[in-house]
Amino acid sequence: MEIEELPGIGKSIAEKLRDSGYSTVEAIAAASIGELKDVGLGESSAIKIVNAAKEAVGGMGFESGLDVLKKRKLVGKLSTNSKELDALLGGGIETQAITELFGKFGSGKTQLGHQLSVNVQLPKKEGGLDGTAIFIDTENTFRPERIQQMASALGLDPNETLKNIHVARAYNSDHQMLLAEKAAELANEYGTRLVVVDSLTAHFRAEYVGRGTLAERQQKLNRLLHILQRKLSDPYNIAVVVTNQVMARPDIVFGDPTTPIGGHIVGHTATYRIYLRKGKGDKRIARLIDSPSLPEGECVFEVTTDGIRDVE
Ligand SMILES: Nc1ncnc2c1ncn2[C@@H]1O[C@H](COP(=O)(O)OP(=O)(O)OP(=O)(O)O)[C@@H](O)[C@H]1O
Ligand SMILES: [Mg+2]
Repeated sequence: MEIEELPGIGKSIAEKLRDSGYSTVEAIAAASIGELKDVGLGESSAIKIVNAAKEAVGGMGFESGLDVLKKRKLVGKLSTNSKELDALLGGGIETQAITELFGKFGSGKTQLGHQLSVNVQLPKKEGGLDGTAIFIDTENTFRPERIQQMASALGLDPNETLKNIHVARAYNSDHQMLLAEKAAELANEYGTRLVVVDSLTAHFRAEYVGRGTLAERQQKLNRLLHILQRKLSDPYNIAVVVTNQVMARPDIVFGDPTTPIGGHIVGHTATYRIYLRKGKGDKRIARLIDSPSLPEGECVFEVTTDGIRDVE
Protein backbone atom coordinates (compact mmCIF):
# COMPACT_ATOMS: atom_id res chain seq x y z
CA MET A 1 0.00 0.00 0.00
CA GLU A 2 1.33 3.43 -0.95
CA ILE A 3 1.19 6.23 1.61
CA GLU A 4 -0.96 8.31 -0.77
CA GLU A 5 -3.76 5.82 -0.23
CA LEU A 6 -4.18 6.99 3.36
CA PRO A 7 -6.88 9.63 3.78
CA GLY A 8 -5.43 13.12 4.18
CA ILE A 9 -2.21 12.45 2.29
CA GLY A 10 -2.05 14.45 -0.90
CA LYS A 11 0.89 14.96 -3.17
CA SER A 12 2.68 17.63 -1.17
CA ILE A 13 2.24 15.92 2.20
CA ALA A 14 3.42 12.65 0.70
CA GLU A 15 6.52 14.41 -0.53
CA LYS A 16 7.24 15.92 2.88
CA LEU A 17 6.76 12.56 4.55
CA ARG A 18 9.01 10.72 2.12
CA ASP A 19 11.70 13.39 2.42
CA SER A 20 11.73 12.79 6.15
CA GLY A 21 11.92 9.03 5.82
CA TYR A 22 8.25 8.15 6.28
CA SER A 23 7.93 6.36 2.97
CA THR A 24 5.81 3.41 4.07
CA VAL A 25 2.47 3.06 5.82
CA GLU A 26 4.21 1.04 8.55
CA ALA A 27 6.68 3.87 9.21
CA ILE A 28 3.84 6.36 9.58
CA ALA A 29 1.90 4.02 11.87
CA ALA A 30 4.93 3.83 14.16
CA ALA A 31 5.49 7.60 14.25
CA SER A 32 4.33 9.87 17.07
CA ILE A 33 2.09 12.88 16.50
CA GLY A 34 4.99 15.15 17.50
CA GLU A 35 7.29 13.59 14.95
CA LEU A 36 4.82 14.19 12.17
CA LYS A 37 4.31 17.78 13.33
CA ASP A 38 8.08 18.22 12.97
CA VAL A 39 7.72 17.15 9.36
CA GLY A 40 5.41 20.13 8.89
CA LEU A 41 1.95 18.67 9.39
CA GLY A 42 -0.73 20.35 11.44
CA GLU A 43 -1.77 18.59 14.66
CA SER A 44 -5.20 17.47 13.52
CA SER A 45 -3.98 16.16 10.21
CA ALA A 46 -1.06 14.38 11.94
CA ILE A 47 -3.51 12.62 14.27
CA LYS A 48 -5.78 11.64 11.40
CA ILE A 49 -2.93 10.28 9.31
CA VAL A 50 -1.31 8.26 12.11
CA ASN A 51 -4.65 6.72 13.05
CA ALA A 52 -5.44 5.81 9.46
CA ALA A 53 -1.98 4.25 9.09
CA LYS A 54 -2.44 2.22 12.29
CA GLU A 55 -5.76 0.96 11.08
CA ALA A 56 -4.30 0.01 7.71
CA VAL A 57 -1.41 -1.84 9.32
CA GLY A 58 -3.82 -3.67 11.63
CA GLY A 59 -5.68 -4.80 8.56
CA MET A 60 -2.47 -6.20 7.13
CA GLY A 61 -2.01 -8.69 9.95
CA PHE A 62 -2.34 -12.45 9.99
CA GLU A 63 -5.44 -14.55 9.61
CA SER A 64 -5.79 -18.25 10.37
CA GLY A 65 -5.49 -20.84 7.65
CA LEU A 66 -9.11 -21.70 8.36
CA ASP A 67 -10.20 -18.13 7.62
CA VAL A 68 -8.29 -18.28 4.37
CA LEU A 69 -10.02 -21.53 3.50
CA LYS A 70 -13.44 -20.03 4.28
CA LYS A 71 -12.71 -17.14 1.98
CA ARG A 72 -11.44 -19.46 -0.74
CA LYS A 73 -14.73 -21.37 -0.56
CA LEU A 74 -16.53 -18.22 -1.70
CA VAL A 75 -14.44 -18.04 -4.87
CA GLY A 76 -16.74 -18.09 -7.87
CA LYS A 77 -15.89 -19.24 -11.39
CA LEU A 78 -17.11 -17.32 -14.38
CA SER A 79 -17.47 -19.21 -17.64
CA THR A 80 -15.81 -17.83 -20.76
CA ASN A 81 -18.38 -19.64 -22.87
CA SER A 82 -15.71 -22.04 -24.10
CA LYS A 83 -15.53 -25.35 -22.22
CA GLU A 84 -11.92 -25.81 -23.31
CA LEU A 85 -10.87 -22.42 -22.01
CA ASP A 86 -12.84 -22.92 -18.78
CA ALA A 87 -11.08 -26.24 -18.26
CA LEU A 88 -7.68 -24.63 -18.83
CA LEU A 89 -8.58 -22.13 -16.08
CA GLY A 90 -9.75 -24.81 -13.67
CA GLY A 91 -13.44 -24.00 -14.18
CA GLY A 92 -13.47 -20.41 -15.37
CA ILE A 93 -12.25 -16.92 -14.49
CA GLU A 94 -11.94 -16.70 -10.69
CA THR A 95 -13.37 -14.09 -8.36
CA GLN A 96 -11.03 -12.64 -5.70
CA ALA A 97 -8.36 -12.56 -8.36
CA ILE A 98 -7.00 -10.45 -11.18
CA THR A 99 -6.79 -12.18 -14.54
CA GLU A 100 -4.58 -10.60 -17.18
CA LEU A 101 -5.36 -11.25 -20.83
CA PHE A 102 -2.32 -10.37 -22.87
CA GLY A 103 -1.59 -10.69 -26.53
CA LYS A 104 -1.17 -8.86 -29.78
CA PHE A 105 -3.85 -6.75 -31.51
CA GLY A 106 -6.76 -8.84 -32.70
CA SER A 107 -5.92 -11.75 -30.38
CA GLY A 108 -9.37 -11.58 -28.78
CA LYS A 109 -8.81 -9.68 -25.52
CA THR A 110 -11.66 -7.22 -26.04
CA GLN A 111 -13.95 -9.93 -27.40
CA LEU A 112 -13.40 -11.99 -24.25
CA GLY A 113 -14.06 -8.90 -22.12
CA HIS A 114 -17.40 -8.45 -23.88
CA GLN A 115 -18.33 -12.12 -23.55
CA LEU A 116 -17.53 -12.19 -19.84
CA SER A 117 -19.64 -9.03 -19.30
CA VAL A 118 -22.57 -10.95 -20.74
CA ASN A 119 -21.86 -14.27 -19.04
CA VAL A 120 -21.47 -12.79 -15.56
CA GLN A 121 -25.21 -12.06 -15.67
CA LEU A 122 -26.15 -15.71 -16.10
CA PRO A 123 -27.26 -17.78 -13.11
CA LYS A 124 -24.48 -19.71 -11.37
CA LYS A 125 -25.65 -23.06 -12.67
CA GLU A 126 -25.17 -21.74 -16.19
CA GLY A 127 -21.65 -20.56 -15.56
CA GLY A 128 -22.46 -16.99 -14.54
CA LEU A 129 -22.20 -15.18 -11.22
CA ASP A 130 -25.69 -13.72 -11.09
CA GLY A 131 -24.23 -10.22 -11.14
CA THR A 132 -23.52 -7.12 -13.15
CA ALA A 133 -20.36 -5.91 -14.88
CA ILE A 134 -18.33 -2.72 -14.75
CA PHE A 135 -16.38 -2.06 -17.94
CA ILE A 136 -13.60 0.53 -17.88
CA ASP A 137 -12.91 1.30 -21.52
CA THR A 138 -9.68 3.12 -22.34
CA GLU A 139 -9.50 2.60 -26.09
CA ASN A 140 -13.09 3.27 -27.01
CA THR A 141 -13.59 -0.31 -28.13
CA PHE A 142 -16.66 -1.17 -26.06
CA ARG A 143 -19.45 -1.97 -28.53
CA PRO A 144 -23.03 -2.24 -27.23
CA GLU A 145 -24.08 -3.84 -30.53
CA ARG A 146 -21.58 -6.62 -29.94
CA ILE A 147 -23.01 -7.20 -26.45
CA GLN A 148 -26.51 -7.41 -27.95
CA GLN A 149 -25.29 -9.97 -30.46
CA MET A 150 -23.70 -12.11 -27.77
CA ALA A 151 -26.69 -11.79 -25.45
CA SER A 152 -29.20 -12.81 -28.13
CA ALA A 153 -27.08 -15.83 -28.98
CA LEU A 154 -27.46 -16.98 -25.37
CA GLY A 155 -31.20 -16.30 -25.33
CA LEU A 156 -30.86 -13.24 -23.10
CA ASP A 157 -32.70 -9.96 -23.58
CA PRO A 158 -30.16 -7.73 -25.36
CA ASN A 159 -31.24 -4.48 -23.72
CA GLU A 160 -31.56 -5.94 -20.22
CA THR A 161 -28.06 -7.30 -20.69
CA LEU A 162 -26.77 -3.87 -21.69
CA LYS A 163 -28.43 -2.28 -18.66
CA ASN A 164 -26.39 -4.53 -16.42
CA ILE A 165 -23.07 -3.41 -17.85
CA HIS A 166 -21.83 -0.12 -16.43
CA VAL A 167 -19.40 1.39 -18.90
CA ALA A 168 -17.03 4.29 -18.34
CA ARG A 169 -14.52 5.70 -20.74
CA ALA A 170 -11.14 6.51 -19.18
CA TYR A 171 -9.46 9.45 -20.88
CA ASN A 172 -6.02 9.15 -19.30
CA SER A 173 -4.23 7.18 -16.62
CA ASP A 174 -5.28 9.54 -13.81
CA HIS A 175 -8.88 9.27 -14.87
CA GLN A 176 -8.48 5.51 -15.02
CA MET A 177 -7.33 5.49 -11.37
CA LEU A 178 -10.32 7.60 -10.39
CA LEU A 179 -12.70 5.28 -12.20
CA ALA A 180 -11.25 2.28 -10.37
CA GLU A 181 -11.89 4.08 -7.06
CA LYS A 182 -15.38 4.98 -8.21
CA ALA A 183 -16.03 1.37 -9.18
CA ALA A 184 -15.08 0.33 -5.65
CA GLU A 185 -17.66 2.75 -4.29
CA LEU A 186 -20.42 1.53 -6.59
CA ALA A 187 -19.73 -2.20 -6.79
CA ASN A 188 -21.99 -3.08 -3.89
CA GLU A 189 -24.92 -0.99 -5.08
CA TYR A 190 -24.57 -2.35 -8.62
CA GLY A 191 -24.24 -5.97 -7.53
CA THR A 192 -21.05 -6.15 -9.53
CA ARG A 193 -19.24 -9.46 -9.89
CA LEU A 194 -16.98 -8.61 -12.82
CA VAL A 195 -14.77 -5.61 -13.52
CA VAL A 196 -13.09 -5.39 -16.93
CA VAL A 197 -10.30 -2.90 -17.54
CA ASP A 198 -9.65 -2.82 -21.29
CA SER A 199 -6.87 -1.85 -21.71
CA LEU A 200 -5.06 -1.68 -18.38
CA THR A 201 -1.80 -0.46 -19.86
CA ALA A 202 -2.49 1.60 -23.01
CA HIS A 203 -2.65 5.02 -21.31
CA PHE A 204 0.35 4.21 -19.16
CA ARG A 205 2.38 3.22 -22.20
CA ALA A 206 1.41 6.36 -24.08
CA GLU A 207 1.98 8.77 -21.20
CA TYR A 208 5.19 7.37 -19.84
CA VAL A 209 7.51 7.23 -22.79
CA GLY A 210 11.23 7.36 -22.25
CA ARG A 211 13.29 5.56 -19.67
CA GLY A 212 13.38 8.18 -16.95
CA THR A 213 9.73 7.76 -16.14
CA LEU A 214 9.54 3.95 -16.10
CA ALA A 215 9.76 3.65 -12.32
CA GLU A 216 7.03 6.23 -11.90
CA ARG A 217 4.81 4.42 -14.38
CA GLN A 218 5.40 1.17 -12.57
CA GLN A 219 4.50 2.67 -9.20
CA LYS A 220 1.29 4.11 -10.52
CA LEU A 221 0.33 0.92 -12.26
CA ASN A 222 0.99 -0.99 -9.06
CA ARG A 223 -1.26 1.43 -7.24
CA LEU A 224 -4.02 0.82 -9.75
CA LEU A 225 -3.66 -2.96 -9.45
CA HIS A 226 -3.69 -2.57 -5.70
CA ILE A 227 -7.01 -0.71 -5.86
CA LEU A 228 -8.44 -3.40 -8.14
CA GLN A 229 -7.33 -6.20 -5.82
CA ARG A 230 -7.86 -4.73 -2.35
CA LYS A 231 -10.82 -2.45 -2.90
CA LEU A 232 -12.78 -4.40 -5.50
CA SER A 233 -11.80 -8.00 -5.97
CA ASP A 234 -11.24 -9.05 -2.35
CA PRO A 235 -14.01 -7.22 -0.48
CA TYR A 236 -16.77 -7.80 -3.03
CA ASN A 237 -15.72 -11.23 -4.32
CA ILE A 238 -15.31 -9.81 -7.82
CA ALA A 239 -13.52 -11.23 -10.84
CA VAL A 240 -11.20 -8.56 -12.25
CA VAL A 241 -10.09 -8.97 -15.85
CA VAL A 242 -7.48 -6.65 -17.31
CA THR A 243 -6.08 -6.58 -20.83
CA ASN A 244 -2.54 -5.79 -21.88
CA GLN A 245 -1.41 -5.52 -25.46
CA VAL A 246 1.99 -6.89 -26.33
CA MET A 247 3.83 -6.20 -29.50
CA ALA A 248 5.55 -8.71 -31.71
CA ARG A 249 9.20 -9.11 -30.89
CA PRO A 250 11.02 -9.93 -34.07
CA ASP A 251 14.29 -9.68 -32.16
CA ILE A 252 13.52 -12.76 -30.11
CA VAL A 253 14.25 -15.87 -32.11
CA PHE A 254 14.94 -18.20 -29.20
CA GLY A 255 13.39 -18.04 -25.78
CA ASP A 256 10.04 -16.66 -24.77
CA PRO A 257 8.32 -14.69 -27.53
CA THR A 258 5.56 -13.71 -25.11
CA THR A 259 7.74 -11.24 -23.23
CA PRO A 260 6.02 -7.89 -23.62
CA ILE A 261 8.09 -4.96 -24.83
CA GLY A 262 9.01 -2.90 -21.80
CA GLY A 263 9.03 -5.99 -19.58
CA HIS A 264 6.31 -7.65 -17.60
CA ILE A 265 4.46 -4.58 -16.47
CA VAL A 266 1.75 -6.42 -14.65
CA GLY A 267 3.00 -9.98 -14.59
CA HIS A 268 3.77 -10.21 -10.93
CA THR A 269 0.54 -8.79 -9.59
CA ALA A 270 -2.01 -10.62 -11.73
CA THR A 271 -3.06 -13.95 -10.25
CA TYR A 272 -3.77 -15.51 -13.61
CA ARG A 273 -2.11 -14.62 -16.87
CA ILE A 274 -3.52 -15.81 -20.16
CA TYR A 275 -1.51 -15.33 -23.31
CA LEU A 276 -3.75 -15.11 -26.39
CA ARG A 277 -2.69 -15.48 -29.97
CA LYS A 278 -4.32 -15.84 -33.34
CA GLY A 279 -4.64 -19.22 -34.99
CA LYS A 280 -6.07 -20.05 -38.39
CA GLY A 281 -9.29 -18.22 -39.31
CA ASP A 282 -11.45 -17.50 -36.27
CA LYS A 283 -9.32 -19.69 -34.04
CA ARG A 284 -7.52 -18.29 -31.02
CA ILE A 285 -4.99 -20.06 -28.85
CA ALA A 286 -4.90 -19.41 -25.11
CA ARG A 287 -1.98 -20.34 -22.91
CA LEU A 288 -2.06 -20.18 -19.13
CA ILE A 289 1.16 -18.78 -17.72
CA ASP A 290 2.60 -18.72 -14.17
CA SER A 291 -0.55 -19.88 -12.40
CA PRO A 292 -0.19 -20.42 -8.63
CA SER A 293 -2.16 -23.66 -8.63
CA LEU A 294 -2.88 -24.81 -12.17
CA PRO A 295 -0.64 -26.56 -14.67
CA GLU A 296 0.52 -24.58 -17.67
CA GLY A 297 -1.33 -25.57 -20.80
CA GLU A 298 -2.93 -24.44 -24.01
CA CYS A 299 -6.32 -24.63 -25.61
CA VAL A 300 -8.04 -23.45 -28.77
CA PHE A 301 -11.31 -21.54 -28.99
CA GLU A 302 -13.11 -19.47 -31.61
CA VAL A 303 -14.38 -15.91 -31.91
CA THR A 304 -17.62 -16.23 -33.88
CA THR A 305 -20.54 -13.90 -34.64
CA ASP A 306 -22.24 -15.39 -31.57
CA GLY A 307 -19.21 -14.73 -29.39
CA ILE A 308 -16.61 -16.97 -27.78
CA ARG A 309 -17.21 -20.64 -28.63
CA ASP A 310 -15.45 -23.99 -28.60
CA VAL A 311 -14.10 -25.16 -31.92
CA GLU A 312 -16.71 -27.37 -33.57
N1 LIG B 1 -18.95 -9.68 -34.71
C1 LIG B 1 -17.88 -10.46 -34.87
N2 LIG B 1 -18.00 -11.67 -35.42
C2 LIG B 1 -16.93 -12.47 -35.56
N3 LIG B 1 -15.68 -12.14 -35.18
C3 LIG B 1 -15.50 -10.95 -34.63
C4 LIG B 1 -16.58 -10.04 -34.43
N4 LIG B 1 -16.10 -8.95 -33.85
C5 LIG B 1 -14.79 -9.14 -33.71
N5 LIG B 1 -14.41 -10.35 -34.15
C6 LIG B 1 -13.05 -10.92 -34.19
O1 LIG B 1 -12.29 -10.41 -33.13
C7 LIG B 1 -11.11 -9.77 -33.61
C8 LIG B 1 -10.80 -8.57 -32.76
O2 LIG B 1 -10.43 -9.04 -31.50
P1 LIG B 1 -10.27 -8.08 -30.26
O3 LIG B 1 -10.85 -6.76 -30.55
O4 LIG B 1 -10.77 -8.81 -29.08
O5 LIG B 1 -8.68 -7.95 -30.21
P2 LIG B 1 -7.81 -7.36 -29.04
O6 LIG B 1 -6.98 -8.48 -28.53
O7 LIG B 1 -8.66 -6.64 -28.09
O8 LIG B 1 -6.88 -6.35 -29.86
P3 LIG B 1 -6.27 -4.93 -29.42
O9 LIG B 1 -4.96 -5.25 -28.75
O10 LIG B 1 -6.08 -4.21 -30.70
O11 LIG B 1 -7.23 -4.27 -28.52
C9 LIG B 1 -11.43 -9.39 -35.03
O12 LIG B 1 -10.27 -9.34 -35.80
C10 LIG B 1 -12.35 -10.53 -35.45
O13 LIG B 1 -11.55 -11.64 -35.86
MG1 LIG C 1 -8.87 -4.63 -27.59
